[in-house]
Amino acid sequence: MAVRPYIVGNWKMHGTRAMLAEARAIDRAAERLIKVEVALAPPFTLIHATRNEASLIGVGAQDCHTAEGGAHTGDISAAMLKDAGAGFTIVGHSERRADHDEKDADVKAKAEAALAAGLNVIVCVGETEAERDAGKAEKVVAKQLAGSLPTGEGVAGSLTVAYEPVWAIGTGRTPTLDDIAAMHHSIRVMLNQLFGEAGADIRILYGGSVKPGNASEILAVEDVGGALVGGASLTAESFLAIVVAAAEKADT
Ligand code: 13P
Repeated sequence: MAVRPYIVGNWKMHGTRAMLAEARAIDRAAERLIKVEVALAPPFTLIHATRNEASLIGVGAQDCHTAEGGAHTGDISAAMLKDAGAGFTIVGHSERRADHDEKDADVKAKAEAALAAGLNVIVCVGETEAERDAGKAEKVVAKQLAGSLPTGEGVAGSLTVAYEPVWAIGTGRTPTLDDIAAMHHSIRVMLNQLFGEAGADIRILYGGSVKPGNASEILAVEDVGGALVGGASLTAESFLAIVVAAAEKADT
């Protein structure tokens, strides 16, 4: 891996203040795992507290609104996230695309709003099972990337892509390592086309049922720059086992 592996925990709609103990434990362990960039995306309500409790790891959000502010009851702007202590936000997660009918253009607008507010961005893409079975996985992901990625000067340095096959999320199922390699390669080719030389350093995370037991083999796949971890990020014990696997990979 050319750049530090990036292991991000997406807590989704899990966590009250009691979970801050897990964040503290993850942060403490990060001190001896400096070859890995570690981050957590807790729910909005815990961003500020997590930032206060954790000094080494990154802290980010799971979504943001496209507007800087205004009459959008229940929404959160990127500037508010930054003010709360976030350094990045995830956008375009398949659960947002499904639950809130977010389209590629919405995801792109959110990514651009986040960048404008000074946040880094993790843009998520991934095919459904029906799309994979129809042999369309790479085509679908290429279309999502073309429509969802922010463009422009200097964007690449603030950008991470997460490939998360929808059918692998929370199911315990993962693509074969060959399928992960093929998809990450095709995403890399596209990033190189879109961003030129800077595209080579954009990390492409794999997400979908990453666990302590499969992290090493997935992280060893060419062009896998880290992992976006859901369920296994909810306890320090299982999340740190994945971070340790990434540190071992970084040593080789
Ligand atoms: P799981 O690790 O629970 O499959 O979730 C993956 C995910 O959606 C991370 O964003």
